[in-house]
Amino acid sequence: MPVQRTLSIIKPDAVGKNVIGDIIRRFEENGLSVIAAKMVHLSAVEAGGFYAVHAARPFFADLCAFISSGPVLVLVLEGKNAVPLNRQLMGATNPKEAEAGTIRADHADSIDSNAVHGSDSEENAAIEISYFFSDLDLHSRG
Ligand code: PPS
Repeated sequence: MPVQRTLSIIKPDAVGKNVIGDIIRRFEENGLSVIAAKMVHLSAVEAGGFYAVHAARPFFADLCAFISSGPVLVLVLEGKNAVPLNRQLMGATNPKEAEAGTIRADHADSIDSNAVHGSDSEENAAIEISYFFSDLDLHSRG
C-alpha cells in the first residue's frame, strides 16, 4: 500500500459543533498522521479559487458561501492509502447516504453542510495541498 498525502478540511459546521477532536481522533486511530494544520477563515474569492474545478456546477455559489461562512481547520494527512482511506472515513457526500459510523453519518446535517472535505485523487491532493501549504509546512513522519 503506497504512503500518500491528502487534504482534509474540517468545515464550518463541524468546527461550530466542537467536534474537531473527534474527527482528528478518527484519522489517527485509522493510521493517518496530521503532518500540517492551519485554521483559516476563507474569503469568498479564496473559496472560489479552491473549488474552481466545480465552477460550472449549479451548487457552486452555495458551496463557496458555506465554506467561507466561518473558520475551517485545514489538515494534511499522511499514511498508507491516505486518499481513499480518508474518503472512506468521511462517508458519502450526502449524509443521508453515508454509512453508519462515518464522519458524515455522525456529524453532517445535509449535503450543503457536510462536515468535511477530502481530496478525491492523489493528483488533486497535491494541487489542494499546495493551495494552502508550502513544502516547508509539511512535517512528514516517514
Ligand atoms: S465529491 O465529494 O467531491 O465526490 O462530491 P461531488 O458530488 O463531486 O461534490 C463536490 C463538492 O460539492 C459539494 N456538493 C454540494 N454542495 C452544495 N449543494 C449540493 N447539492 C452539493 N452537491 C455536492 C460536495 O460536498 C463537495 O464538496 P467537498 O468540499 O469537496 O466535500
